[in-house]
Amino acid sequence: MPTQILLTGATGTLGTALRPQLQNANRDVRAASRSPPADDDDEAWVAMDLAGGTGIRRAVEDIDVVVHAATAPQGDTEAVDVRGTERLLQAAADAGVSNFVYVSIVGVDEISFSYYEHKLAAERAVEASAVPSTIVRATQFHSFIADILETVSWLPVWPLPTGIRLQPIDVREAADAIADHATPDPAGRGPDIGGPEGRTVRDLAATYCDVRGLRRPIVRLPFPGETAAAFRAGDGLCPDRTVGTVTWEEWVTARYD
Ligand SMILES: NC(=O)c1ccc[n+]([C@@H]2O[C@H](COP(=O)([O-])OP(=O)(O)OC[C@H]3O[C@@H](n4cnc5c(N)ncnc54)[C@H](OP(=O)(O)O)[C@@H]3O)[C@@H](O)[C@H]2O)c1
Repeated sequence: MPTQILLTGATGTLGTALRPQLQNANRDVRAASRSPPADDDDEAWVAMDLAGGTGIRRAVEDIDVVVHAATAPQGDTEAVDVRGTERLLQAAADAGVSNFVYVSIVGVDEISFSYYEHKLAAERAVEASAVPSTIVRATQFHSFIADILETVSWLPVWPLPTGIRLQPIDVREAADAIADHATPDPAGRGPDIGGPEGRTVRDLAATYCDVRGLRRPIVRLPFPGETAAAFRAGDGLCPDRTVGTVTWEEWVTARYD
């Protein structure tokens, strides 16, 4: 009997990469979203709203493993990431789920800002729950950084928090490592997942410009406060966990080739 997996956040950046990696002969994947795509296999999708609390119990019915990748970084993170995770955990406990895999971010316990604080609160809810669990923290995906640089790309001069250090990873490589945890065996706090190199935002932006043939002066945007200081200090990095192999330069080259 294949392992039954529920993937939340299946329409997101990570979920889109995770879904095909979770699907194999030994695993059946049920994908969840607030608005499942109309043109996909209806049987494989469920409608679920973590903030509204709808569809959650149906989503976890007969599920062995939950891979929880839903999040609302631009929205109400308290309602979705904290309360929504608590609702999902309660439903998973009632359904007898064997392993609840929670995707988190490297540095959530070191770097204080609202989204990270809510991710940490969700981690703690996972750890306190009756459901056996696995927590995997990843560094930023390449696409996340590219999306930010695209928003400033029209500017003649780029004001950026140049000293911030990041260790971006290809989302497919992150998905690959997370998919390894999607078994009925919980691992507790799993090892972090990081990209091949830690680099400053100035360096990442300069490489991005080089690859795209853009000529843009990059100027330091003052970013005071403890959040930026923690990123500058490298609290968002996991230098001993360079799981990804695709460098930022290789990824940007492939994206814009
Ligand atoms: N992006 C990064 O660089 C990065 C790095 C490390 C770790 N992570 C972590 O990886 C996970 C996935 O991130 P991502 O970047 O893939 O996120 P994303 O692209 O923003 O996708 C978010 C997903 O959550 C779903 N969602 C949002 N609100 C929901 C709600 N109320 N109820 C149910 N589903 C809801 C969305 O689906 P619908 O809108 O279709 O409902 C979507 O599928 C998160 O835990 C994030 O913290 C991200």
